[in-house]
Amino acid sequence: MNRHSRRGAGLLSALLLAGAALAETSHEADDEAMIDLAWDSGCFNCHDLDNTLRGPAWRDVAERYRDDDEALAHLVVTVRDGGSGNWGEERMTPNRRVAEEDIERLVSWLLSLPPAEESG
Ligand code: HEC
Repeated sequence: MNRHSRRGAGLLSALLLAGAALAETSHEADDEAMIDLAWDSGCFNCHDLDNTLRGPAWRDVAERYRDDDEALAHLVVTVRDGGSGNWGEERMTPNRRVAEEDIERLVSWLLSLPPAEESG
């Protein structure tokens, strides 16, 4: 009696289902992942996407640097080392505990935020 075949059909179909769900919502999933990262990195202690808190609203930042090719490189350094005087009196303290590649992902994502939708 030989029993050579083993089936992992249950596992395989679970993987396929997960893949399909991911593909459908990948854009929102991206945003959600970046929002989670921003919370984990402490950015949202001072920032919001739409409202000025201690720091400027990220949609306003995106608006200001929209046509600036150098913005990403420049802002990654500002976020890492801190900055002041560009938006007001408040100072952004250095974010050196956040990995530089995470800062880069966060800044390139926030720069791509579309302006808030006009209401009415
Ligand atoms: C302690 C509060 C605080 C935290 C934490 C903080 N910021 Fe800021 N951020 C500020 C303030 C205040 C400014 C405005 C500084 C200025 O006027 O130059 C600012 C400005 C910025 C700017 C625009 C800089 C410029 O030169 O125009 C970006 C981009 C930014 N923050 C991203 C981030 C990211 C990403 C994080 C998380 C890794 C973060 N900030 C965490 C307070 C904070």
